[in-house]
Amino acid sequence: MKTLTLSEAANRTRSSDVRELLKDAQLPGMISLAGGLPDPALFDVEGLEAATREVFASEAQTALQYGQTDGQLALRQAVAGLMAERGAPVSPDQVLISSGSQQALDLVSRSILNPGDVVAVERPSYLAALQIFHLIGADTVSIPVDGDGAVVDALLSLPTDKPKPKMLYLVSNFANPSGATLSLARRKQLVQWAVDNQVFVLEDDPYGALRYRGTAVAPMIALAKDVPGALEWVGYLSSFSKIVAPGLRIGWAVLPAGLLDACVRIKQALDLHTSTFSQSVAAKYIASGRLPAHQQTVCEVYGKRADALAAALTDAFGDKLKFNRPDGGMFLWGRFEDGTNARQLLKIARDKGVIYVPGDVFYPDTPDASAIRFSFVTVDKAKLAEGAQRLLAAHKAL
Ligand SMILES: Cc1ncc(COP(=O)(O)O)c(C=O)c1O
Repeated sequence: MKTLTLSEAANRTRSSDVRELLKDAQLPGMISLAGGLPDPALFDVEGLEAATREVFASEAQTALQYGQTDGQLALRQAVAGLMAERGAPVSPDQVLISSGSQQALDLVSRSILNPGDVVAVERPSYLAALQIFHLIGADTVSIPVDGDGAVVDALLSLPTDKPKPKMLYLVSNFANPSGATLSLARRKQLVQWAVDNQVFVLEDDPYGALRYRGTAVAPMIALAKDVPGALEWVGYLSSFSKIVAPGLRIGWAVLPAGLLDACVRIKQALDLHTSTFSQSVAAKYIASGRLPAHQQTVCEVYGKRADALAAALTDAFGDKLKFNRPDGGMFLWGRFEDGTNARQLLKIARDKGVIYVPGDVFYPDTPDASAIRFSFVTVDKAKLAEGAQRLLAAHKAL
């Protein structure tokens, strides 16, 4: 019997290990530090229910009808308002609403990259971004990350055996997975580098609004206003997934006009438009004024959990495990200093009832086998302490 031959793209696309781990997270008694999901117990169900009722009462016909590809005006206006709060005032015309920021990343990548083109990424990098670049057939070069985010100076000594990058992609605040935030000085340096080298810099920022300590750093699209010609070379992505609810599947991009038009044309072909119903609910929710208080609650809870996990890991491992202390976001990124292989440890840890993501999956090239990513946001304080103890038991058994 003949079997269907799949495309090269389908064949080279593997399911992400992180998604596979989500299945283990469902096992009874498992403490999962693996997922990157927001805590559903904190969703503002009451507020979203009220917003939904208002949509039915005031705009049911529009909310249930097809809509325009770039997104509903009311939501683009609401997003422009959020961007002003983030220090980057933009006009609603510069905003494209997407089906999650994942789609915006896909649209920008498809609009810029041809197979064989090179994207500069961080090392470690957001896994599903690497999947998109791979699917397109693009190649990557990587620059390291330290406590101030991506090491921009490393762009000056990229490998010479690959073409010059056409795009640079990074997660600017409390990155997935490194937890690092790109410093103001490096943002300015990067904007200048983008113009000088004519490389498009795409800033992905789903976590910046989840800051529990310290002060926010301006998005690069705001800094680009002070550098002649730079606005053409920078773009910004963000999402309601981590601050409201991922099930809405609403993200957005702020892009230069020509690139935004290209993304709209491609989006027409992919899904016509993002769910009008979700967009209406999101716009009504923002208009209700509940978001700032909700964000504050989420930050308070996540901040306490981040501290609790940091304390539990220090208690359990001392100097054997080095990690960043997150000031925001959803991830704690660490590295075993005693040579422990995080993937081997996971097999034993799973049997002991705790899972996490081995850090090697996040490397576009040579992986660090001792790196490890923990997410603490869905686990309470007592379970975080228990999780660290189970991990210690696994470490001893290895
Ligand atoms: C860095 C980063 N970018 C983009 C996304 C995609 O988010 P969404 O499509 O839900 O907006 C995620 C989700 O985990 C992420 O971590």
